[in-house]
Amino acid sequence: MKRNLVVVGILLVFGVFVVESCNENGCSKALVSNYNSHESEKMKDNCMDCHSPNGTAGGCFRVAGSAADSIQGDSASHNSVVKLYTQPLGAGELVVSMQVDRSGNFYTTSPVSFGSGLYPAIVSGQGKVRYMPNPTTVGSCNSCHGPINPKIWAD
Ligand code: HEC
Ligand code: HEC
Repeated sequence: MKRNLVVVGILLVFGVFVVESCNENGCSKALVSNYNSHESEKMKDNCMDCHSPNGTAGGCFRVAGSAADSIQGDSASHNSVVKLYTQPLGAGELVVSMQVDRSGNFYTTSPVSFGSGLYPAIVSGQGKVRYMPNPTTVGSCNSCHGPINPKIWAD
């Protein structure tokens, strides 16, 4: 019990720090993608290059990326959801769930604790799931997917 309180305390201190450092840089805007949103139209590359405390765009994304090509222009792939779990293959706790928008992007400015890493998954509109085998400690999915690794793909 005592240990849990200490952990909660550390998370609170860290959370407040992150929120404050964001507000100083005009990051107070809350942005979360949904199936019908299209505000991220034409947005690509590593979202956090610009949507971060030191970036030029509004909103500091905690998790963001693209599952674009498969979804754009393919109505069968609409309504995909990106999820982050504490354990591999959709096990453990579901920490984040983001709907992929009409432009094929997903994002959230809500604080996310990555801990020692979270396991991403994408669920297509037809309910097919693809899991990332390894955990990620960063929410900037497009820092790997696109330039280094294959794009995130919804079946
Ligand atoms: C090169 C810089 C840059 C990159 C990279 C970038 N954006 Fe943007 N984004 C902007 C700018 C500039 C605006 C418009 C001005 C603003 O909202 O501050 C904007 C606006 C947006 C908006 C609308 C914000 C609002 O207030 O309604 C969303 C949503 C968005 N971007 C999502 C994304 C996503 C998702 C990614 C990654 C796939 C991304 N952006 C990558 C610069 C960028
Ligand atoms: C450090 C680099 C890196 C980061 C950051 C990263 N990934 Fe991955 N991801 C990989 C690699 C490597 C694979 C395995 C190879 C592949 O299929 O692309 C993978 C696989 C995946 C897969 C399974 C792909 C498939 O076709 O079966 C999904 C889904 C995925 N990642 C989603 C995400 C999401 C969402 C994020 C952001 C929260 C993210 N990844 C961040 C490197 C990364």
